[in-house]
Amino acid sequence: MAKVKIMETILRDAHQSQAATRMRLDEMLPIADKLDKAGFYALEAWGGATFDSCLRYLNEDPWERLRALRKALPHTKLQMLLRGQNLLGYKHYADDVVDKFCELSIKNGIDIIRIFDALNDPRNMRQAIESTKKHKGTVEAAFSYTTSEVHTIQYFVDLAVELKKMGADIICIKDMANLLLPYTAYQLVSELKAKLPDTPIHLHTHNTAGTGDMTNLKAIEAGCDIVDTALSPLGNGTSQPATESLVATLKGTEYDTGLDLNALNELTVYFKKVAERLSKDGFLSPQVLKVDVNALIYQVPGGMLSNLISQLKQQGASDKLLDVLQEVPRVRADLGYPPLVTPSSQIVGTQAVLNVVTGERYKMVTKETKGMLVGEYGKLPVEPKADVIKKIIGDTPRITCRPADNIPPELDKYREEIAEYYEQEEDVLTHALFPQLAIPFFKRRLAAKKGIDTTIFDKTTQVHPV
Ligand code: CO
Repeated sequence: MAKVKIMETILRDAHQSQAATRMRLDEMLPIADKLDKAGFYALEAWGGATFDSCLRYLNEDPWERLRALRKALPHTKLQMLLRGQNLLGYKHYADDVVDKFCELSIKNGIDIIRIFDALNDPRNMRQAIESTKKHKGTVEAAFSYTTSEVHTIQYFVDLAVELKKMGADIICIKDMANLLLPYTAYQLVSELKAKLPDTPIHLHTHNTAGTGDMTNLKAIEAGCDIVDTALSPLGNGTSQPATESLVATLKGTEYDTGLDLNALNELTVYFKKVAERLSKDGFLSPQVLKVDVNALIYQVPGGMLSNLISQLKQQGASDKLLDVLQEVPRVRADLGYPPLVTPSSQIVGTQAVLNVVTGERYKMVTKETKGMLVGEYGKLPVEPKADVIKKIIGDTPRITCRPADNIPPELDKYREEIAEYYEQEEDVLTHALFPQLAIPFFKRRLAAKKGIDTTIFDKTTQVHPV
């Protein structure tokens, strides 16, 4: 019997992290039968950036992709990643849109929805959790792991207990920036299991800093039930630790995954060809496989560091990198310790650059920094410093309710906007999430039906030659 369950990420996070989310459906379907029979606990197959990439680059209807995967993978659970009230976008949506999105994701084939919020504000996750339950999906509630003086083990355990009370079936530690080190993982999982002994714990990490395999192993020793890995052709580096290595490590132990290395090898051989295609087309660089030492030293996510370097270069202030890296934790403390993930990593990073380059802290402040202090993104982990609030937003009233409470229902409005292209209820959500991409996509779809050359409509949308 399998003791540790594996969620394979090759169809979602692996190519999102290593190859700009460019794997196509026609590269997934030929291997689907073998993936289905391999015995994975689940396949992460949708959500995250896949929806955006389908429309923006691949000329695929993301809903069609989901239906095709569901049909081709009848025995394996399909999981998706959802950013709470932001769904797959970057703004807050009304509750009716969130509800419909969860309903149709489940109806089209998703079994488990991993729901998270960048600030770990449970209010931003509430509607998605309720809707997933209402439509008979499994709720995997995730917290965004980060490090700071307020992000203690106790902080995350309390958060997990709250998410469990809200309806979580599974709790996920989402270590998107690979900041969770092996021994901390051991302690965190031990304390989560002590407090929530009947709730499966699922760990999601990356191997950016080269610590991912060890983090998975220590978490497993502490009782972690499910871990994410990626088949080796798109595993390791900025992606998840490789599936085959973990399966071999655990074989014959009390943690045996039950997966068969020979069967996995057929998948490996297949995905090597896909990785070669992605590499040939310039989406996959060997650079993503190197250990990112800066992530270990400065505790900032890999992507954030490269943003800081390029922002400083643009300002002609490349020599100020160390000052900026020292300013980042101070800005974070001032703003109430937001986790450094999209979008807060960009907000904190840009503000730290401005503070250093102008020579005076908060002399120049971005719209986003103000928005974060006002409460547009949700509740910050702790109350920001009073003098900072005063200096940056003055007497501007702060939002103390759940941000989405201020958004009236909007599904009907989105439906009306695409009336001439409407073919399925799913189209309304496609348009709600990516309005600039959806209408050109619907136009191409309509034209293709009439046998018209479909490349003429939107020259800004890159469509991969099929
Ligand atoms: Co990830």
